[in-house]
Amino acid sequence: MATLTTKHMGITLKNPLILGACNLSNDLEKLKEAEAAGVAAVVYRSLFEEQIQMEDNELSSNLEAYDNRNAEMINLFPKIEHGGPKEHIHNLKQVVEALYIPVSVKLSPFYTNVLKTINDMDEAGADAFILFNRLFEPDIDVEVEKHVSPWNLSTHSDHRLSIRYIGLTHGNLNASVAANNGIYEGIDMVKMILAGASAVEVVSAFYHNGVGHAP
Ligand SMILES: Cc1cc2nc3c(=O)[nH]c(=O)nc-3n(C[C@H](O)[C@H](O)[C@H](O)COP(=O)(O)O)c2cc1C
Repeated sequence: MATLTTKHMGITLKNPLILGACNLSNDLEKLKEAEAAGVAAVVYRSLFEEQIQMEDNELSSNLEAYDNRNAEMINLFPKIEHGGPKEHIHNLKQVVEALYIPVSVKLSPFYTNVLKTINDMDEAGADAFILFNRLFEPDIDVEVEKHVSPWNLSTHSDHRLSIRYIGLTHGNLNASVAANNGIYEGIDMVKMILAGASAVEVVSAFYHNGVGHAP
């Protein structure tokens, strides 16, 4: 019988199927169902930057509430500034050097030069890349003139961009690569492996078909 075992970011997985980051990981029963359906690993959902910024704003306003009484207090808590690309690579390098566990980076495809970014992060020591993240795409309800956040599942053809970049990076990176975006069927997983991925992350297909139905 063919073995489906794969080595991804230095970890041996029983097969390449990973449940990608999403709200399903909030629900322990759903995670158990995914495991029983054959999922080999799970990515816990992210803490989004907006949440961090909100907490940062709350922290700042709490600290600033005392500014008039004790101006020196703000010096104890320097502001958390968002860095540019160089700081990003520098921060990644520091994380990789400080940890013994593997570090995986999930990227959006919206960089001026995606391959250069991946290459720089590979040189910084990232153990794996997830190609690609799917950004939330807001919409506007023109009837009420309000911003809305529609449910943002991928479509099947979205996986072709991942095939392109997995193929382009294959053989040129130390890190391993997980494919993500628009992977709905077993055949899509096969294509990703053939292009050079060592694992695939799936979310939308689980929302469409139920978490107990692995592609
Ligand atoms: C409801 C929902 C929640 C998501 N939450 C996260 C998240 O917390 N962190 C993250 O990196 N990606 C998140 N994503 C993006 C997915 O992990 C994945 O990158 C994207 O859906 C593309 O994969 P797919 O085509 O299999 O859906 C979320 C997607 C959905 C639909």
